[in-house]
Amino acid sequence: MAYIVDLRSDTVTKPTESMKHAMVNSAVGDDVFGEDPTVNALESKVANLLGKQAALFVPSGTMANLIAIMVHCNKRGSEAIVGNLAHIYKYEQGGAAHVAGVLLSTVQNKPDGTFDLQEVENRIRGSDIHEPITSMVAIENTHNVCGGKVLPLQWIDELSELCKRHSIPLHMDGARLLNASAYLEVPAERIVRGCDSVALCFSKGLSAPVGSAIVGSCHFIQQARRMRKMLGGGMRQSGVLAAAAIVALDEIAPKLALDHKRAQRLGKVIEGLFLKTFSVDVASQHTNMVLVRIAEHSPLCAESVLARLAQVSLAETQGDCKTPDDEGVIVKAICFNDKTIRLTLHTEISDNDLWLAIMKITYVFKELEAAHPLIS
Ligand SMILES: Cc1ncc(COP(=O)(O)O)c(C=O)c1O
Repeated sequence: MAYIVDLRSDTVTKPTESMKHAMVNSAVGDDVFGEDPTVNALESKVANLLGKQAALFVPSGTMANLIAIMVHCNKRGSEAIVGNLAHIYKYEQGGAAHVAGVLLSTVQNKPDGTFDLQEVENRIRGSDIHEPITSMVAIENTHNVCGGKVLPLQWIDELSELCKRHSIPLHMDGARLLNASAYLEVPAERIVRGCDSVALCFSKGLSAPVGSAIVGSCHFIQQARRMRKMLGGGMRQSGVLAAAAIVALDEIAPKLALDHKRAQRLGKVIEGLFLKTFSVDVASQHTNMVLVRIAEHSPLCAESVLARLAQVSLAETQGDCKTPDDEGVIVKAICFNDKTIRLTLHTEISDNDLWLAIMKITYVFKELEAAHPLIS
């Protein structure tokens, strides 16, 4: 069997031994009655970490975002403004419309994950009887589709001021907020200071098996708790899961910067190959994701490159990609679009795994460039 280095996503991370130990030994109760001590401990811990009054443990990031939308946009005819590359818009099945009856109105994301503040201000509506009522603005930090980009603090602060001027709540999809905190070297609390609600995932780079938190004021969380129950997210003895999330915050969060360092190393190696077909913009790479662009004039597409990375040729097993059992290496990644591949570093990727991935990617990229020159 070939050795697999799985760089598809940080969501592939499995619970660590200490998480499993904590899960087995967790004190539990019925959380729908508010009686699970481990869930209560996690919720206080996250609220403290983000400098907000209260938090709620929910099954997923998608549910956390949907609950935020349902609480903030609780009038019929509401809309939420989001970036056109936001996870909420692209990858949550339009749950806002589907379940909550809320219109998602998009503004164009820039490559750094931000959007134009003037455009947001121009788009706010609701005073005219013909218009929907803008009831929320949502941002994403780090920004997934933009390659794990960290939003600039000043931009978040300015957007927050704008939202306050118009009395519109600001929500942050902070699925990977702690990656942003590690990159900026500032507490998460500072990053979300101007946000009314925040969603934070434990099951991405933090390696817990399940769960997210939604954080905000006591009043917001009271309503969020009602929404969670209605959506079927009341989880009873969920301390078993919260226990892993607590370990994730204590033991994995402090190590996120190492994933970023490894992502830099991988990006620099690809950049340093000076290939015409494959490029990486390492200077704009912030956290644990490496975006590899395939040149427009290349006949290759992301799918075909991924298919090659998932195969082992005979020549490879005799060359640099050799593993101890001579079976070769497979690198798994995902394609973002026809010409973009995403490689994501996470806590299960050791230095040795990274080295094997680098050898394999170098080999395959050189081979593909030689076999498929650019079309002039
Ligand atoms: C930025 C962002 N928000 C939300 C989610 C949704 O999280 P979940 O898969 O837990 O529903 C994801 C998942 O990858 C994400 O990347």
